[in-house]
Amino acid sequence: MHSQAHDVGAPSLLEALRTGTALLHVALEKRLPFFSERLDADWYRRLLQAYYGFYRQVESVLHDSGLIPDGYDGALRVKTPTLVHDLYALGLDDHTINNLPRCFELPTLDTPAACLGALYVLEGATLGGQVLRREMVQRLGVTAENGGAFLNIYGVETGRRWKDFLDYLGDQPLDATAKQRAVEAARSTFRCFEQWLDSQEVLL
Ligand code: HEM
Repeated sequence: MHSQAHDVGAPSLLEALRTGTALLHVALEKRLPFFSERLDADWYRRLLQAYYGFYRQVESVLHDSGLIPDGYDGALRVKTPTLVHDLYALGLDDHTINNLPRCFELPTLDTPAACLGALYVLEGATLGGQVLRREMVQRLGVTAENGGAFLNIYGVETGRRWKDFLDYLGDQPLDATAKQRAVEAARSTFRCFEQWLDSQEVLL
């Protein structure tokens, strides 16, 4: 337990992240084509390619920063390899994957708090993935074997891993300024992702 007497009554980090990103989540969700009648196999592949261009960059910045607070199991939670696996399943080879466009307009992840904010967004996205996974099976016949592993990245462990992540977040002794940094980074992660997907012309 961390003593945060000065913080009594202030929103927890999780509450601040939720409040700070709720509208951005709704906005992005509306523009993603997963539920669109017009989504076809080609659009899905382009969408996953664009996801790769963002996740590869942001995961590498997070990893290289050395700023992620102890207790986060990066090897367990890394998502880029699963996107690569899906892209192989969709017919891309190493050369093509390595030459896919990548996002360089990324959130500034220069403090441990900022890293936590970005991780909140990437981990939270696994929850929505459960809804999207079912939709992609029904709509396009995409399963974990033929290009949809990313959407079900934690499988039956999704709920448990999210809970573990929330415990990890709850254990972080952040003061009000650090919390603010985390929220700014989470908001920036949503915005950068949306702008990137937009630039790749995969949004509605
Ligand atoms: C059409 C696409 C999406 C749908 C349908 C969707 C849906 C959902 C659902 C159902 C939840 C779980 C809510 C709950 O269990 O309380 C959730 C949580 C979340 N999603 Fe999404 N999502 C989508 C895309 C995304 C994307 C692209 C991101 C970020 C890159 C994202 C980030 C989050 C976060 C951070 C949470 C956790 C919120 C919290 O409980 O604190 N989602 N989403």
